[in-house]
Amino acid sequence: MQFEYDPVPNKAVFGKNSALKLKDEVKVLGASRVLIACTKSMVARIGHVIDGLGDMCVGIYDGAEPHCPEHVAMAALDLFKKHNADCVVAVGGGSTIGIGKAITLRTDKPLIVVATTPCGSESTPIYGLLIGNHKKTGRDRKVIASTTIYDPVLTTTMSAHHTGTIGMNSLAHCVEALYAQTTSPISDLFAEEGILNLTNGLRDSIKDPTDLTAREQVLYGGMLSGYCVTLAGIAIHHKLCHVLGGHHGIPHGESNSVVLPYAVAYNETAAPQAMEKIKRAMRSTSASGGIFDFASEINVPKSLKELGMKMEDLDIAAKETVQTTPYNPKPVDIKSVREMLQQAYEGIRPVPF
Ligand SMILES: [Fe+2]
Repeated sequence: MQFEYDPVPNKAVFGKNSALKLKDEVKVLGASRVLIACTKSMVARIGHVIDGLGDMCVGIYDGAEPHCPEHVAMAALDLFKKHNADCVVAVGGGSTIGIGKAITLRTDKPLIVVATTPCGSESTPIYGLLIGNHKKTGRDRKVIASTTIYDPVLTTTMSAHHTGTIGMNSLAHCVEALYAQTTSPISDLFAEEGILNLTNGLRDSIKDPTDLTAREQVLYGGMLSGYCVTLAGIAIHHKLCHVLGGHHGIPHGESNSVVLPYAVAYNETAAPQAMEKIKRAMRSTSASGGIFDFASEINVPKSLKELGMKMEDLDIAAKETVQTTPYNPKPVDIKSVREMLQQAYEGIRPVPF
């Protein structure tokens, strides 16, 4: 056995009402002047968290927007500097965390995340800003949150649609970690545990949004999915989702929801050990079929056609995916990827390659 394991330097504080421990976590980092970053609608939901910080909260930036546009992150950075803050606390999902990462990258001050979705972005070294219509991304381990607070109470207002689609993105990160380039026995543990918790938790959260045990499972699975990306990397599924998002305007959660069963079917014969782990975690007899049935069960989008993709764009999407996928268990070629895209376009039961 040969592998490298470089732990993700993110302290996790997990559990019901753990957001109330925020002040203590700021002190642990030696900071005392906090700028909170969030959306306008979030401010009203976290009054108790802001109050708990007392005088430590020197400012609130409530202008977070989807995809983290550059002007939004720079406005937050200006506010951070104006208030002489020494710690940024991002309360939200990927776009809000993007603001926190932009500030940490440029100031070297610590980032704390209070996660309100299972996106896992807090644990990844990937940062990005929307500049014009283009998402410019980079990698730096210093943008990984120093501490993340996972409080399921803050996730109960997520709609079924968001819960399902963001959850499918997290599920995809766990699934791909089982066959990505730098997979290891340790990332496999996180991945299997992530798949198990996400599938069980998503099912129950969608039936009853106030089920805190289910919300806890989803958040825990999301936390593990972040570790999976950082430790193991990504493969064809995520590269294809980035193509669908970047050039064809399909939101990330939606593309993940549709594509995952087909990407797994694409790798089904090339990565047999990973498939056994997926089947075990999903309690299914087929990896791609199990994911396809699960996506139907939680009622997330099922076809690229339904997401507004045009059939004439499938050729270019296949070409772009082949050009941008550096590693995948089954080699990528335009003909096979185009065939997979056709299945995803129609939303039919995936046929293993
Ligand atoms: Fe993703």
